[in-house]
Amino acid sequence: MSERDGPARSVDDAIRTRASIRAFLPRPVEEKVVRDILEVAARAPSGGNIQPWKVYVVAGEVRDRLVATVFEKAKTTPFGDGPWYDEFPKEMGEPFRARRRKVGFDLYALAGVARDDMMGRARQGMKNFEFFGAPVGMFFTVEEQFGVAQFVDLGMFLENICLLARARGLHTCPQEAWGLWHRTVSEFLGIPPKERMFCGLALGHPDWTDKVNALATERESLENFARFEGF
Ligand SMILES: Cc1cc2nc3c(=O)[nH]c(=O)nc-3n(C[C@H](O)[C@H](O)[C@H](O)COP(=O)(O)O)c2cc1C
Repeated sequence: MSERDGPARSVDDAIRTRASIRAFLPRPVEEKVVRDILEVAARAPSGGNIQPWKVYVVAGEVRDRLVATVFEKAKTTPFGDGPWYDEFPKEMGEPFRARRRKVGFDLYALAGVARDDMMGRARQGMKNFEFFGAPVGMFFTVEEQFGVAQFVDLGMFLENICLLARARGLHTCPQEAWGLWHRTVSEFLGIPPKERMFCGLALGHPDWTDKVNALATERESLENFARFEGF
């Protein structure tokens, strides 16, 4: 058993063994485990303690119907409802562009998709909308009145979920891709119009036999993102 399996035993361990998993086993996750993760995750800090996040969890037949709805719609509208926010700046400069390209190319290489195989890329991208096979999917919203600060709060909540999943032997993949289908998901789940769905998240047990889960992402060295003064 590698250190990526089994429950993380410390916060450091959870952080180091968390990775975005893009192939899950169909093995179910119990509702009480998901409830527990979310209850603890809600201890996340938020400016003014306003706790702006809402989360909608799908599993079983509801998850399957939602996935089927999106795949059916994608036959005629492959780009979904159109995103309500830009995932990245249109003209993203370096070093960010290079980092993004690297993780994309590394992922496609593991998935056996050639760089110029646009259909293959699209097929890999569509796996987002079946939660990469995970039995549990989540959608995160904040109300449209909120701005940057509340999206940071949501990020804290999200990372807590990813780490708490690791403490329970589970893995995750946060999914902005679901933003493409924000209207469809909102309609399907009856999410109030004042809430805007920011992203989804897949939760489950990884299929380690799938090569995509071998993706090892790099991080910039400390010197390149931190400055220390006065020590
Ligand atoms: C808010 C957020 C949204 C993301 N959306 C997607 C997504 O839609 N699809 C996907 O495959 N990965 C998605 N990712 C995963 C990133 O690609 C991943 O975190 C990054 O490449 C670093 O890899 P790691 O998570 O394995 O450390 C998302 C991550 C974050 C934090």
